[in-house]
Amino acid sequence: MKQRVLVTRQVFPEIVEALRARFDVEHNDDDRPWPTDELARRAADKQGVLASVMDRIDETVLAAAPGLKVVSNIAVGTNNVDIPACTKRGIRVTNTPGVLDDTTADLTWALLMAAARRIAEGDAQVRRGDWKLAFAMQSPLGTDVHHATLGIIGMGRIGQAIAKRATGFDMRVLYNNRGRIPESDELRLNATWVERDRLLAESDFVVVMVPYSPAVHHLIGAAEIARMKPTAILVNTARGGVVDDAALVDALKARRIAGAGLDVFEGEPKLNPGYLGLPNAVLTPHIGSATRATRMRMCETAVANLSAALEGRTPPDLVNKELA
Ligand code: GLV
Repeated sequence: MKQRVLVTRQVFPEIVEALRARFDVEHNDDDRPWPTDELARRAADKQGVLASVMDRIDETVLAAAPGLKVVSNIAVGTNNVDIPACTKRGIRVTNTPGVLDDTTADLTWALLMAAARRIAEGDAQVRRGDWKLAFAMQSPLGTDVHHATLGIIGMGRIGQAIAKRATGFDMRVLYNNRGRIPESDELRLNATWVERDRLLAESDFVVVMVPYSPAVHHLIGAAEIARMKPTAILVNTARGGVVDDAALVDALKARRIAGAGLDVFEGEPKLNPGYLGLPNAVLTPHIGSATRATRMRMCETAVANLSAALEGRTPPDLVNKELA
């Protein structure tokens, strides 16, 4: 008898087909995240779950699914999954590292550039027919990216991909990370490790790229924003909750910093309404990895991990390594 797999959100048809060749598949074609009780009910008789970052895989779900062997997250982040609870039950958790680094770094740069050069404001101005004076000398003025200082908090694979792109802009790159990256990588990326406070004080652009955990909740709050230059721009393409949205809204309103580029928000898809009236915030709906090629690779990676776990092999991207 085929093992049973739950796919919690819409994926690509060829991904469902590939799964159906090996497993008995229940697929959420509606693309509406299931509330926890419904997720638990549907997971109850499954051996595998292909999950998205919007699914909370917690005790309620795990307790309802005694036969569950693997939670394969279609994401690099796994903060939606209670990993210790999975480990305790012998359930493997996997993610999709590596395949989305460049795509997410590209989006980070898109937001950085858009905030620096006020792209969204300009676009809105042109569309509403409010472009009265061509080539006005002093408006709207943006911030130079080239030769500026870029500060990256979190220098993992994606942080490094962001740093690599700064070379073409002749930027000075500072970074802060729990540990220093190998010297050969610092040289390759022309990046210098500094204390976080110094990074905040000296950077023209501050990018956060740390995986979410309670330890980094509100890593950037009012105190950290207060250390930044009044001309600085903050970019968050990591996770909602790493930045204190209420503090950032206040700072942007008061122009304590110049702008922000944000792809992730606390409690998304809900949004702090304060952002809506702020022309100096560029907002995107969590699309860091959203290109067809990359989303397809993420799905394929997640399927490979799920299949390995259900077929008795160690998944290539096992997060709870004690279950190898
Ligand atoms: C998306 O946010 C991911 O973690 O891959």
